[in-house]
Amino acid sequence: MYSDKVIDHFTNPRNVGVIADADGVGEKVSASCGDRMKIFLKVSDGVIEDIKFQTYGCGAAIASSSMMSELVVGKTLEQALALTNDDVAAALDGLPAPKMHCSNLAADALHEAIKNYQDKG
Ligand code: FES
Repeated sequence: MYSDKVIDHFTNPRNVGVIADADGVGEKVSASCGDRMKIFLKVSDGVIEDIKFQTYGCGAAIASSSMMSELVVGKTLEQALALTNDDVAAALDGLPAPKMHCSNLAADALHEAIKNYQDKG
Protein backbone atom coordinates (compact mmCIF):
# COMPACT_ATOMS: atom_id res chain seq x y z
CA MET A 1 0.00 0.00 0.00
CA TYR A 2 2.79 2.44 0.90
CA SER A 3 5.98 2.96 -1.10
CA ASP A 4 9.36 2.13 0.42
CA LYS A 5 10.08 5.87 0.62
CA VAL A 6 6.93 6.55 2.64
CA ILE A 7 7.79 3.76 5.06
CA ASP A 8 11.40 4.97 5.31
CA HIS A 9 10.42 8.58 6.06
CA PHE A 10 7.69 7.51 8.48
CA THR A 11 9.90 5.17 10.48
CA ASN A 12 12.98 7.43 10.31
CA PRO A 13 11.70 10.98 9.86
CA ARG A 14 14.28 13.66 9.07
CA ASN A 15 14.33 17.11 10.66
CA VAL A 16 11.82 16.47 13.46
CA GLY A 17 11.89 19.12 16.16
CA VAL A 18 11.68 22.79 16.95
CA ILE A 19 13.92 25.78 16.15
CA ALA A 20 13.64 28.01 19.20
CA ASP A 21 14.83 31.16 17.40
CA ALA A 22 13.15 30.41 14.08
CA ASP A 23 12.99 33.15 11.47
CA GLY A 24 9.61 31.88 10.27
CA VAL A 25 6.95 29.60 11.73
CA GLY A 26 3.95 28.18 9.89
CA GLU A 27 1.14 25.87 10.84
CA LYS A 28 -1.49 24.05 8.88
CA VAL A 29 -4.44 22.06 10.17
CA SER A 30 -6.13 19.56 7.90
CA ALA A 31 -9.74 20.49 7.28
CA SER A 32 -10.59 16.85 6.65
CA CYS A 33 -9.04 15.11 9.67
CA GLY A 34 -7.85 17.79 12.12
CA ASP A 35 -4.22 16.66 12.01
CA ARG A 36 -1.69 19.48 12.24
CA MET A 37 1.81 20.32 11.07
CA LYS A 38 4.09 23.08 12.33
CA ILE A 39 7.18 24.21 10.41
CA PHE A 40 10.17 26.18 11.73
CA LEU A 41 12.65 27.87 9.36
CA LYS A 42 16.06 29.48 9.60
CA VAL A 43 16.71 31.69 6.60
CA SER A 44 19.95 33.31 5.50
CA ASP A 45 20.39 35.44 2.36
CA GLY A 46 17.10 34.14 0.98
CA VAL A 47 18.09 30.49 1.45
CA ILE A 48 16.52 27.97 3.84
CA GLU A 49 19.46 27.03 6.06
CA ASP A 50 17.54 24.82 8.48
CA ILE A 51 14.04 23.42 8.80
CA LYS A 52 12.33 21.45 11.55
CA PHE A 53 8.81 20.16 11.88
CA GLN A 54 6.32 18.89 14.40
CA THR A 55 3.50 16.81 12.95
CA TYR A 56 0.57 15.51 14.93
CA GLY A 57 -0.90 13.24 12.35
CA CYS A 58 -0.83 9.96 10.51
CA GLY A 59 2.16 8.17 9.03
CA ALA A 60 1.59 9.66 5.59
CA ALA A 61 1.59 13.17 7.06
CA ILE A 62 4.84 12.49 8.94
CA ALA A 63 6.46 11.03 5.81
CA SER A 64 5.27 14.06 3.81
CA SER A 65 6.74 16.48 6.38
CA SER A 66 10.05 14.64 6.38
CA MET A 67 10.30 14.49 2.59
CA MET A 68 9.29 18.13 2.20
CA SER A 69 12.01 19.17 4.68
CA GLU A 70 14.65 17.34 2.67
CA LEU A 71 13.42 18.83 -0.60
CA VAL A 72 13.71 22.46 0.54
CA VAL A 73 16.72 22.64 2.84
CA GLY A 74 19.41 24.62 0.97
CA LYS A 75 16.84 25.97 -1.49
CA THR A 76 15.91 29.62 -2.04
CA LEU A 77 12.60 30.91 -0.74
CA GLU A 78 11.41 31.25 -4.34
CA GLN A 79 12.22 27.61 -5.05
CA ALA A 80 10.51 26.55 -1.80
CA LEU A 81 7.41 28.60 -2.63
CA ALA A 82 7.22 26.79 -5.96
CA LEU A 83 7.08 23.38 -4.23
CA THR A 84 3.60 21.89 -4.46
CA ASN A 85 1.83 19.23 -2.45
CA ASP A 86 1.88 17.06 -5.56
CA ASP A 87 5.69 17.45 -5.73
CA VAL A 88 5.93 16.12 -2.16
CA ALA A 89 3.68 13.15 -2.92
CA ALA A 90 5.61 12.42 -6.14
CA ALA A 91 8.94 12.51 -4.26
CA LEU A 92 7.50 9.83 -1.96
CA ASP A 93 6.70 7.73 -5.07
CA GLY A 94 3.05 8.51 -4.52
CA LEU A 95 0.52 7.99 -1.76
CA PRO A 96 -2.64 5.90 -1.78
CA ALA A 97 -5.58 8.00 -2.99
CA PRO A 98 -7.30 8.16 0.43
CA LYS A 99 -4.03 9.50 1.88
CA MET A 100 -3.30 12.21 -0.68
CA HIS A 101 -4.88 14.82 1.57
CA CYS A 102 -2.22 14.08 4.20
CA SER A 103 0.51 15.35 1.85
CA ASN A 104 -1.45 18.59 1.48
CA LEU A 105 -0.25 19.70 4.89
CA ALA A 106 3.44 19.70 3.97
CA ALA A 107 3.81 22.32 1.25
CA ASP A 108 0.97 24.41 2.70
CA ALA A 109 2.60 24.60 6.14
CA LEU A 110 5.97 25.38 4.51
CA HIS A 111 4.43 28.24 2.56
CA GLU A 112 2.82 29.58 5.74
CA ALA A 113 6.25 29.60 7.43
CA ILE A 114 7.81 31.45 4.48
CA LYS A 115 4.95 33.98 4.54
CA ASN A 116 5.50 34.47 8.28
CA TYR A 117 9.21 35.15 7.60
CA GLN A 118 8.44 37.56 4.76
CA ASP A 119 5.80 39.41 6.81
CA LYS A 120 8.42 40.13 9.46
CA GLY A 121 10.79 41.59 6.85
FE1 FES B 1 -4.87 13.22 8.89
FE2 FES B 1 -3.28 11.82 7.33
S1 FES B 1 -5.19 11.19 8.20
S2 FES B 1 -3.05 13.87 7.90
